[in-house]
Order: sequence, then C-alpha cells, then structure tokens
Amino acid sequence: MQEPDVARIEALSTAFSPSAPIDQRALFAGRMSQLTDVINALGQKGQHALLFGERGVGKTSLARVLANRNSELSMGGQRVLVASINCDATTTFSSMWHRLLGDINFAQQRQAIGFTGESVRTAVPVNTVLPPDVTPDDLRRVLGQLGKTLIVIDELDRLEDEKASQLLADTIKTLSDHAVDCTLLLVGVADSVDMLIHEHQSVERALVQIRMPRMSPPELFEIINKGLAAAAMTIDDDAKGRIVQLSQGLPHYTHLLTQNAAQRAATTGRVRVELTDVRVAIDSALGKAQQSIISAYHEATASPRENMYQQVLLACAMAQADAMGYFAAVDVRDPLSRVMGRRYEIPAFSQHLNAFCEDSRGPVLQRTGSSRRYRFRFENPLMQPFVIMDGLKKGLIAEHLIG
Ligand SMILES: Nc1ncnc2c1ncn2[C@@H]1O[C@H](COP(=O)(O)OP(=O)(O)OP(=O)(O)O)[C@@H](O)[C@H]1O
Ligand SMILES: [Mg+2]
Repeated sequence: MQEPDVARIEALSTAFSPSAPIDQRALFAGRMSQLTDVINALGQKGQHALLFGERGVGKTSLARVLANRNSELSMGGQRVLVASINCDATTTFSSMWHRLLGDINFAQQRQAIGFTGESVRTAVPVNTVLPPDVTPDDLRRVLGQLGKTLIVIDELDRLEDEKASQLLADTIKTLSDHAVDCTLLLVGVADSVDMLIHEHQSVERALVQIRMPRMSPPELFEIINKGLAAAAMTIDDDAKGRIVQLSQGLPHYTHLLTQNAAQRAATTGRVRVELTDVRVAIDSALGKAQQSIISAYHEATASPRENMYQQVLLACAMAQADAMGYFAAVDVRDPLSRVMGRRYEIPAFSQHLNAFCEDSRGPVLQRTGSSRRYRFRFENPLMQPFVIMDGLKKGLIAEHLIG
C-alpha cells in the first residue's frame, strides 16, 4: 500500500465546501440561467429580484458569487456597490438598513487643514444620514445619490417583523417608480415569495422571481470535476454516478461525499477515486450529518412495535419528486414495493404518510393539497439523502434498487 498523500488530503479540504456557501467563482458550478436572470435585473433600473427555492439548493452561494464579482468588477464600465445582510428573528426594517448602509461609504473630498492645499478623501458610512426610524422614502433619497448598487437581503423567511416585509414591499415600489439605480436581491425559501407579493400586488411587476431548482446531474458533475481538478485527482464514472444519484440535487451531499471519498483514496496514495471509496464515504457522511437530522430521523421512525416506518420513510426518500420536492402517495408505491420485496398498495402505507405529518413524528413530512390529492415533501430536504444512505448502511435496500 502507498503512503498517505497528505498534501492532497489538505488540497481536498479546501477544494470542497460541504458546510459553507461558496463564495469563489472557481468552485461555483452551473446555475447560468439563474445568474443571467439576476445580472439582467441588475442591468435594468427599477428591476429587483427574488431568488427562492428549497433549503440547501445553493441560493446564498449564487448571491455571494455575484456580489463578490461585482465588488471587484464593473458593469458596463460602472462600479457596482454591494452590501448584504442575513435576516434573523430580531431584524427590523430600520436595523436592516442601518446595517446594510453602514457597509457602504460616501467618498468625500475634503480640504486638508494647513497650507498645503491638498485635499484628502474621507469615507463616511452612508447610514449616518439615515434617521433611526427608516422609511422607504428615506431610502429612495439616499440610494438615489449612490450610483449603481446591489443590496442582497438573505434569509428573508426568518424575518418575523410583519411591518418589515410590508415596508420592504413599499421600498421596492418606491425605488422602482423613481427608477433609482439600486437592485434589491431578496433571497429566501419559497414561501417568502407569497408573503412579499401578498403585501403589495403592485411589486409583482418590479420583481423578477427567480426559482432555484435542485441542481441537475450535469451541474453536480461539474462540482465533482472542479473540486477534484483542484487536487489533481480523477474519479471513475460509476463512483461519480453514485455520488450524483445519492445527492438528489442537493450540492451539500455532493461536496461531502466527494471530499470524503477522495480523501480516502488519497489516504492510500491513489489519485483516482473508486466506487469503494464512495461506499466508505457514505458511512462517514452519516456520522458527520447534522445532529438535528439524526435526531429528527429517530423521532420520525421510532416505534415500540415492529412496523414499517423506516421502510416507508425510505420509500418516500426514493420517490420521484417534482422540482419543488413534492411527491404523491402513488409515487411511494413502487419504491416501497422494491424495499419490501413484494407489491404494496397505497392503503397499506397511507397511515404512515399521515403520521409523518404529525408533530409526534417531527413532522418529518409536510402535506399540501386536499384529501385524496395530498402531496408530500420532506420538511428538511437534507433529510432525504440521509434516509437513503442510512437505508443502504442498514441493508434495508440494495444499491442497485435505489433509483
Ligand atoms: N453553484 C454551486 N456550485 C458548487 N457548490 C454549490 C453551489 N451552490 C451551492 N453549493 C454548495 O451547496 C451547499 C449549500 O449551498 P447554500 O448554502 O448556498 O444553499 P442555500 O440555498 O442558501 O441554503 P439555505 O436554504 O440553507 O440557506 C454549500 O455547501 C455550497 O458549498
Ligand atoms: Mg442560504
């Protein structure tokens, strides 16, 4: 056996980013259509954008890559000022804008004291001219003096202050009506769209809604290729295919599995990642899963008696879902039959699906629609690949039967 390749193991630790959003263009994969939509909004005075999608699909990464780019580059020869904020439960409309505009400076030219006649540049944070209670009209006035600006407001769904979303809608309307050269990029999970549009019907025209679906297999392949290229490694096709299949469009798992599999290969001095490395990576990925996912899984499937909760949840994770992660009971039937090794019809597991939507089991699933037309999805999308990997590890399903 070869010596462990420590330099390569180190290179892999920075070539993949399983836990933090990407902020460098070099590691960013795919997403050209969404990136183009945001850039177009930025190019149009009075246009704003709302980037929405499931948890973990890469919304923040897209915003960061763009914001980084624009703080360095110019657009149409013009410099773009950028400020961003993550909302939380304590964020108010005024605190949000004081923070945002505290990161942007007015450049002031001032005559130096003395007789040299030289002028000096001083930087004054823009928020110093805002009153403590900020109104949309204050923002129109101040942002109107700044030149092209991109304001990123992330985690919009965590905003609890109802007045804030109303005022945000009013701000979009005012900035748009006055053609102020500032683009707001709002980022959040899907439900925040309704919330904002609901506040103000007329913002709909000024707001391009950009949906971030899960990543496509080619986009996930690109993540694998870029990361491994950075460590001068390669990967067998079957190993790559397995990682993409298990990731289910969620880039977190692509980063986690590829990084772990490649580090295992490097431990034995190999530069080519094989399927066996991926198999071992599944075990370590399960061990490194967020504690919240592990406990939610136990809560969802616990039962004092012999039952099918684990199997039905596994079948849900294997079910063909739409772009927003929703599936129907009928989509669970075939995967469950594969897990159980014999045909199962809907009445045999519809109780389990309903139980998964109750507080006593998390709820691990969300349900929408009306009776008989119910559609389900995982409350936390990151649970889905976890359930499949756990099923593989426990031998509830054979590898070739997953998809
Ligand atoms: N385009 C991309 N290329 C490569 N990796 C990506 C890309 N987008 C996201 N990732 C990776 O996927 C993971 C999740 O990304 P990110 O945090 O941006 O998602 P999010 O949609 O903002 O999640 P949340 O809803 O939890 O805020 C991160 O580990 C990040 O490194
Ligand atoms: Mg995010």
